[in-house]
Amino acid sequence: MLNTFSRRTLARLIGGSAAALSFPRVGLAAEEASASLPDSAETARTFPNDFLWGSATASYQVEGAVHEAGRGPSIWDTFSHTPGKTFNGDTGDVADDFFHRYKEDIQIMKELGLKTFRFSVAWSRVFPSGTGTPNPQGLDFYHHMVDALLEAGIQPFCTLYHWDLPQTLQDKGGWENRDTAKAFADYAGYTAGKLSDKVSHFMTLNEMSTFVEVGNLEGRHAPGLKLDAKRLAQLNHYVVLGHGLALQAIRSKTKHGTKVGLAENIRITAPVVESKEHIEAAHKAVREENAMYLTVVLEGRYTELYLKRLGADAPKFTAEEMKIIGSPMDFVGINVYQPEFVRADHSEKGYAIVPSPSSYPHMLSPWLKVGPEGLYWGPKLVHDVWGVKEMYITENGASSDDQLTPEGAVYDTDRVMFLRNYLTQLQRAVSQGVPVKGYFLWSLLDNFEWADGYEKRFGIVYVDFATQKRTPKLSAEFYKKVIQANAVC
Ligand code: FCB
Repeated sequence: MLNTFSRRTLARLIGGSAAALSFPRVGLAAEEASASLPDSAETARTFPNDFLWGSATASYQVEGAVHEAGRGPSIWDTFSHTPGKTFNGDTGDVADDFFHRYKEDIQIMKELGLKTFRFSVAWSRVFPSGTGTPNPQGLDFYHHMVDALLEAGIQPFCTLYHWDLPQTLQDKGGWENRDTAKAFADYAGYTAGKLSDKVSHFMTLNEMSTFVEVGNLEGRHAPGLKLDAKRLAQLNHYVVLGHGLALQAIRSKTKHGTKVGLAENIRITAPVVESKEHIEAAHKAVREENAMYLTVVLEGRYTELYLKRLGADAPKFTAEEMKIIGSPMDFVGINVYQPEFVRADHSEKGYAIVPSPSSYPHMLSPWLKVGPEGLYWGPKLVHDVWGVKEMYITENGASSDDQLTPEGAVYDTDRVMFLRNYLTQLQRAVSQGVPVKGYFLWSLLDNFEWADGYEKRFGIVYVDFATQKRTPKLSAEFYKKVIQANAVC
């Protein structure tokens, strides 16, 4: 628990306006404490000097302004406006109003010391109907925003698809239609080509597994479908094909040196105990559990077990398509929330997923189990199994029951606990030579959390959605300190 002194101090520090965001040292107690902090190279949990500390957002979750500057509707407009689909009927119509307030928010990023920022482009801002004639006004927004980032000394990372498919393409079958993969490539190549003077890193798709399964199998996300296994597998195939085609299009339209990857929330198969047999099982598991997502993208083939498991429901594909899907990437982004624990067993697969007991701790979102080991094993497995040489943690963060005190502070001590433990595991990986070059905290601001609407807050900056006032939380102070120290503290 925080003592009275800290509470008062934090209330003062955190309650101020964005421009006044600063976390000066807090007096004698802190001085004494810092005197006893370990600072030798051996004990300090430091990161490489050029490590990129950032935060991540996505267009529909923050931008708002859904009818401005020629933007066309996306499947998330349709879905969130359909009664019963989101918590409280919440929509992204206004969200964080980032479209109008990005300068203020970039100022917050600067105050925090962020070195990089991951944003996504709304496809339907650039091509309001998904294909055809581009809308220059849509792209202007991203040009201005990226210029403001660069002016603040913050390196932009750009995602081309964070789930907001233009509605016109959904009307023609969405990702079930092979033409969507081609349309995505055209849009991605065009957009990256326009931005590549200013942006060096592009990600094609965000979390294929989530939008494929939650959107098209479970129906809890847009477009809200519940496809059968055969149709889902074919849709999945067109999604990975879309990634490959987009990667090639981006390469052909951008200058030499532009880096292309994706951001995937792989199933992280952490060994339940760090022994040789369970680690071997974790290696097998990571390939099989991600067979139709990261594995096929990195290997250019579906695993035998995946095809066998699907049998007659397996997707139809050509050798040419598989080559496109497996086009070499420059980096891999992984979104890390929680691991699955696996153990060795004697089944054909050679591993089993260990179920969690009901007492397993989670954050405010019930799906978000607390598993710091995921931030060690996620990148480590991707490196050890596939030899990937450049990785980013493209998302990691947590939802808390954030309460604004009357003094205007948010003491999200559980989020700080979460981040400190996860970052400790990331540092463990990096210090062992796992090539993670940067970390993007999800998220800078509380925002529209998909089907959970505005109920679940993931920001390190609190947003009052009625007034759009931003209030940095305790976790913002923590993250600022981590960035300053370039170490877990
Ligand atoms: C990820 C999504 C991101 C956000 C976080 C909490 O799965 O990519 O948009 O919703 O979860």
